[in-house]
Amino acid sequence: MCRLTPISAESGPLPQEWKCLGKDCEENVYSRMEFILNDARNRMPTGSTYLMENDEEWLRLETKTDPKAFQAQAEWSGIRPGMRVLDAGCGPGLTTAIIHRMVQPGGEALGIDYSPTLIEYARTKYADTPGIRFETHDIREPLREFCSFDAVIVRFVLEYNLAESERIVNNLTPALKKEGIISLIDLDYNCLSHYPLPPAMESRLVDLMHLLEEKFNFDPYAGRKLYACLYNAGYRDITVDMRAHHLIYGPPKDTDLFNWLKKAEVVTRKAEHLFKDYPGGRSGFFEAFRAFFNDPSRFTYTPVILCRGIRPQDAHPSVRRCRAHS
Ligand SMILES: C[S@@+](CC[C@H](N)C(=O)[O-])C[C@H]1O[C@@H](n2cnc3c(N)ncnc32)[C@H](O)[C@@H]1O
Repeated sequence: MCRLTPISAESGPLPQEWKCLGKDCEENVYSRMEFILNDARNRMPTGSTYLMENDEEWLRLETKTDPKAFQAQAEWSGIRPGMRVLDAGCGPGLTTAIIHRMVQPGGEALGIDYSPTLIEYARTKYADTPGIRFETHDIREPLREFCSFDAVIVRFVLEYNLAESERIVNNLTPALKKEGIISLIDLDYNCLSHYPLPPAMESRLVDLMHLLEEKFNFDPYAGRKLYACLYNAGYRDITVDMRAHHLIYGPPKDTDLFNWLKKAEVVTRKAEHLFKDYPGGRSGFFEAFRAFFNDPSRFTYTPVILCRGIRPQDAHPSVRRCRAHS
């Protein structure tokens, strides 16, 4: 278990269950990452639009990822030994590392993400092994230099790109080999299914999700759109699956508490005005949400939808060819 310094954020202390899975296990990862990430932050292009970008996003993404659940999703997606796989929107690299393990012997995994801080973290933690690599790239732009993949996995990324989901799929298509697989994985009713939410909290939550759609390009209903997205892009042999991503009842695990409170902290700060007539304002809402989430009688669920297809013979006419293919 890593020794970690306490975090002074509103969302509270680090989850007790968090175990560092990488080579840093005996080090104080948190302090060291602060140093590395500060450096990357200074190089971050202005105009980065990731809704959840915050100093502890690497930690939120690592602690909330359930490696077994992700591996099962990757197996369903068709990831097998020997494949060359692209993890598009790889975050801090844990999912890429799992893919890399699954494609051995002989396979390769490339993680790309537009956040330089997350790519820096991923490189530091996972990229000292042959066959795994991380690069900075915004997948709203064509992927000219990344191509010839047997499979592409895009998990929890389209939800942050409401307006560009189709464009992203069209950008990823030429990166696949003939007969290559794309697997889109996203949540539906994201953040919206809790019971029993007090009415004043429920209405603010609905308003907040509307605001995120309108002003922050976030899609709480990304999951239900995946099938149409692949169908319209001409993919064949499309299959769909649905599972429980969050299924939370009874006393919350530290990891769930950290994830949900960090989400609430980051997004409510973007929308202070929505809470001006809530008792205690934004921080009153935040504290009420914390109390609600700690209440063992609360039930929360979020479905995850998985949608997989085979690359169309003729990619969309607007798709530019991958450099290595031209
Ligand atoms: C919720 S995380 C998911 C990380 C990982 N795929 C997983 O399943 O755990 C979303 C990631 O997508 C990245 N992202 C969002 N939009 C992107 C874009 N247009 N290009 C590249 N990365 C993007 C964010 O920086 C973030 O790391």
